[in-house]
Amino acid sequence: MTALPTAHGSNKLPCTLIPGDGIGPEIVEAVIQVLDAMGAPFAWETQLGGMAGIAEAGDPLPGVTLDSIRKNKLALKGPLTTPVGGGFRSVNVRLREEFQLYANLRPAKTLVPGGRFENIDLILVRENLEGLYVAFEHYIPVGDDAHAVAISSGVNTREGARRIVRYAFEHAVKLGRKKVTIVHKANVLKALTGVFLEAGKEVAKQYEGRIACDDRIVDACAMQLVLNPWQYDVIVTTNLFGDILSDLIAGLVGGLGAAPGANIGEKAAIFEAVHGSAPDIAGKGIANPTALLLAAGLMLDHVGLTQHATALRTAIDDVLNRDNVRAGDLGGKASTKDYAAALVQRVSSAR
Ligand code: NAI
Ligand code: MG
Repeated sequence: MTALPTAHGSNKLPCTLIPGDGIGPEIVEAVIQVLDAMGAPFAWETQLGGMAGIAEAGDPLPGVTLDSIRKNKLALKGPLTTPVGGGFRSVNVRLREEFQLYANLRPAKTLVPGGRFENIDLILVRENLEGLYVAFEHYIPVGDDAHAVAISSGVNTREGARRIVRYAFEHAVKLGRKKVTIVHKANVLKALTGVFLEAGKEVAKQYEGRIACDDRIVDACAMQLVLNPWQYDVIVTTNLFGDILSDLIAGLVGGLGAAPGANIGEKAAIFEAVHGSAPDIAGKGIANPTALLLAAGLMLDHVGLTQHATALRTAIDDVLNRDNVRAGDLGGKASTKDYAAALVQRVSSAR
């Protein structure tokens, strides 16, 4: 991507910050406290999104928010609520389309030993713009049933498949990974996911001898991820399969509270947790900000601040495994604020 701008009169990187809905503002506050305490050089530009955007501007993605991301090319966002069924289109899908964020990077790494699975270190790369998420959907009414027939078309392009598989291989090279697995359903969705496999295999040839490549059918892959997840290294797949499998691999490392995501494109990159706005625990002060913290770690990697990224991940490891301060979903009792305070202490003493 093109060079990032710096904030006027300083060498800080301006970054759009969207607190979001539900637990969003609570976890975003925790993350900013930690990043500021460690001296991460960001100039935050807070912007509205989601329900707050609807309330203030009549749009979950107000123009000023989009302009801010367009200018900064960098955003950290809390989860945004999308009502199920009618009403607004998914805000997250709109953001991905607006900035052509074609790569959705979702790593899953064991944070706390002693869980159901040890030593998980998987990377899932999901195609973020095509497939069944293009929303070519409609109903055909029959008699008095307006929703008698529902139709959805998926779109995968050879170029889109090449681009995401190339991204997965390049990422594997950068991180010293050994293997990329292309996940598809080309036995049934022969055109839609067949083209993904076909284009993916072409790309894989360019990495022969450096990065191994194999392929799996998505349902078998789901089972194998539960039986023997260690056989996988980097997984690259289409939009819907990636959405589902990324929640599955989050489950291997203790749940959504520990799963970060990055949405990467040519024009911008937006970092967020995999989880949503968690309305069931919003306002209770118990949300786990780790997923968003790890997303901020991916953002630090992305802008080349690798030392800060490593320091952040070390502090998270220390707080979870030495200080034994953990949020409820990771088996502890810490509130969001207690956990953030423990992290602030760790990063401050490391400076
Ligand atoms: P969710 O991810 O918000 O919640 C699923 C379960 O995980 C809930 O029991 C919740 O309490 C728990 N959970 C999630 N994050 C947690 C955290 N940080 N700490 C502790 N527990 C956590 O999924 P749900 O309920 O299906 O979606 C709620 C809303 O979020 C919907 O409107 C959905 O559209 C939106 N959403 C937004 C996303 C985004 O902005 N990227 C991603 C996924 C969903
Ligand atoms: Mg999802």
